[in-house]
Amino acid sequence: DQLKKIDKYLYSMRFSDDTLKDIMNRFRREMENGLGRDTSPTASIKMLPTFVRSIPDGSEKGDFIALDLGGSNFRILRVKVTQDKKQPVQMESQVYETPDDIIHGNGSRLFGHVADCLGDFMEKQKIKDKKLPVGFTFSFPCAQTKLDEAVLLTWTKKFKVSGVEGVDVVSLLNKAIKKRGDYEADIMAVVNDTVGTMMTCGFDDQRCEVGIIIGTGTNACYMEELRHIDQVEGDEGRMCINTEWGAFGDDGSLEDIRTEFDREIDRGSINPGKQLFEKMASGMYIGELVRLILVKMAKEGLLFEGRITPELLTKGKIETKHVSAIEKSKEGLKKCMEILTRLGVEPSDEDCLAVQHVCTIVSFRSANLIASTLGGILCRLKENKGVTRLRTTVGIDGSLYKMHPQYARRLHKTVRRLVPDSDVRFLLSESGSAKGAAMVTAVAYRLTEQAR
Ligand code: BG6
Ligand code: GLC
Repeated sequence: DQLKKIDKYLYSMRFSDDTLKDIMNRFRREMENGLGRDTSPTASIKMLPTFVRSIPDGSEKGDFIALDLGGSNFRILRVKVTQDKKQPVQMESQVYETPDDIIHGNGSRLFGHVADCLGDFMEKQKIKDKKLPVGFTFSFPCAQTKLDEAVLLTWTKKFKVSGVEGVDVVSLLNKAIKKRGDYEADIMAVVNDTVGTMMTCGFDDQRCEVGIIIGTGTNACYMEELRHIDQVEGDEGRMCINTEWGAFGDDGSLEDIRTEFDREIDRGSINPGKQLFEKMASGMYIGELVRLILVKMAKEGLLFEGRITPELLTKGKIETKHVSAIEKSKEGLKKCMEILTRLGVEPSDEDCLAVQHVCTIVSFRSANLIASTLGGILCRLKENKGVTRLRTTVGIDGSLYKMHPQYARRLHKTVRRLVPDSDVRFLLSESGSAKGAAMVTAVAYRLTEQAR
């Protein structure tokens, strides 16, 4: 019954299906606003055209470089795509550090760093004399009018680099490469990580038409009918839309479900008032949400016999990977004891059970929220297709989804409850977004070669 007390205490973080359906419907309206000509300039859900018009069809081939910047790792990859049936895609990759002073510095340093790492990678691959086509996964909201131009709208997550917002990142990277002068590169496509993920999964499953990320940040893309996209000419066929759903609620539309803890997270962030949905749901914030709850409960004497330590009061001391460890079904409680002991709060067994329950409520809320927004996209796809039952595949990536022991199951279950007339396959992107970025690059490359 201590758990019941916590349920009551965190009542505002537990949603009924009616509330989830309500959130789903709000999100559907916001998507429509983002697409409409008159409503899109002020819409909080940006619904960005990506200029990706189809998922892979198996005809892609070539030798590509992929850059993957904006998730928890900065990666450079070489992706070789052949028509070989057994192993059509070969990849080699390297992770590069992106130190804090670079992600909080200025644009020329950031892109100088990217160009340096790319130079190092090409050197190691012995391809510095080649001008390979490059696909750039850049995991931030960008305005695109074509594949190889992407104007950063605003930084999100941990990044805050001056002089990049409002500027085309391809031109910044080209400038940095030119400045070095020791190699050339042909940046042919910029894709959001959701798009890269959808395309990666689309390579294995042609039915894939949604891509979602539940990692440091959270976001989704899906294939929309071109006739519904007012910002882009043409009525035939489809185009992938990057929803940027992390910004859901930035216009005040989620105030009724935000809690004091969400507001505190927002106040302490580098982008107050922005990405409010992301701050309730993604990996960058889950651990911190748990910590803020524990601090409040301890202050009220509900945990640790009221003991509060400097560690417990330190921002970032509980990370999302800790929440994942605590929720493991077998060793979870032991992990919880270890983690809390490190914070110096001398936890009892009862405290550990209670903290585990807090973690469950916070991570479950995240899965529920994302089930609602994903449900909104699925309903829209269903309506677009005019079918009574939707059969589709959702490509997914991101550390929270991958590492958390219960997250995926809870998400799938809730989505199926919210959108009952559907057969949804959830496909984990085993190889990240780079393979998909290479597929987009392959198509772009073929088209420019044909035009020559
Ligand atoms: C990776 C993708 O696997 O997942 C990236 O290759 C993406 O493009 C990332 O940004 C998202 O997850 P996280 O947890 O690293 O933010
Ligand atoms: C943030 C970014 C978005 C990205 C997501 C996942 O929400 O704004 O572009 O897709 O994080 O990495």
